Amino acid sequence: MGIIVRRMGSADADAIAELSQKYFPLARIDEAEVRRRTARGVQYFVAERDGNLAGFVDVKLGARQVRIGGIAVTPDCERHGIGSALLERAVAFARENGRSSLSLLVKESNAKALRFYTQRGFALKGARIGKRNGTVLVLVRGIEN
Ligand SMILES: CC(C)(COP(=O)(O)OP(=O)(O)OC[C@H]1O[C@@H](n2cnc3c(N)ncnc32)[C@H](O)[C@@H]1OP(=O)(O)O)[C@@H](O)C(=O)NCCC(=O)NCCS
Repeated sequence: MGIIVRRMGSADADAIAELSQKYFPLARIDEAEVRRRTARGVQYFVAERDGNLAGFVDVKLGARQVRIGGIAVTPDCERHGIGSALLERAVAFARENGRSSLSLLVKESNAKALRFYTQRGFALKGARIGKRNGTVLVLVRGIEN
C-alpha cells in the first residue's frame, strides 16, 4: 500500500478528531480542539493512504525532549508499518529540533501499544496512578535507538 507521511493540513482536522475520539475518548478532542492544540504548538503528522487518513502522531517540543501525545492508526490499516512510520517521523522531528529523546504516556492496560513502543526502543521511566485512566506508564527513548 502506498503511504505518505506529511504535516497535517487544515482539511485533516476533522479526520484526526474522529480517530482521536475513537481511541482517546477521555481527551474529548473535536475538530476545534485539534486547531487549538495546533495553535498552542502541537504538531500533527498524518499518514495518508489512497487520499484517506490512515493515522496520525502528535508531538510537542519540551525543553529537552519531544513529547508524543499519541499515535493512532485506523483499524483497517494496522500492522502495515504505519505506526512505525509515524513514530519515525516523530523521531525525525526531535532530531530536526535538537532534542535527543522522546517521551510519552500510555495506559498500562494498553498491551498492543506497550508491545509496539517497547519493540521500538522505548523503556519504562515511571508510572502514575490516574483518576480517570488507571495506571499510566511513562516511556522514554533516545533518537538513536
Ligand atoms: C499501536 C498502534 C499505533 C500500532 O500501529 P501499527 O500501524 O499497527 O504499527 P506497525 O504496523 O508499525 O507495527 C505493528 C506492531 O504494533 C503492535 N500491534 C499492532 N497491532 C497489534 C495487535 N492487533 N495485537 C498486538 N500487537 C499489535 C505490535 O507490536 C506490532 O508488531 P508485530 O507485528 O511485529 O508484533 C496501533 O495499534 C493503534 O493505533 N492503536 C490504537 C491507539 C493507541 O493505543 N495508540 C498508542 C497509545 S498513544
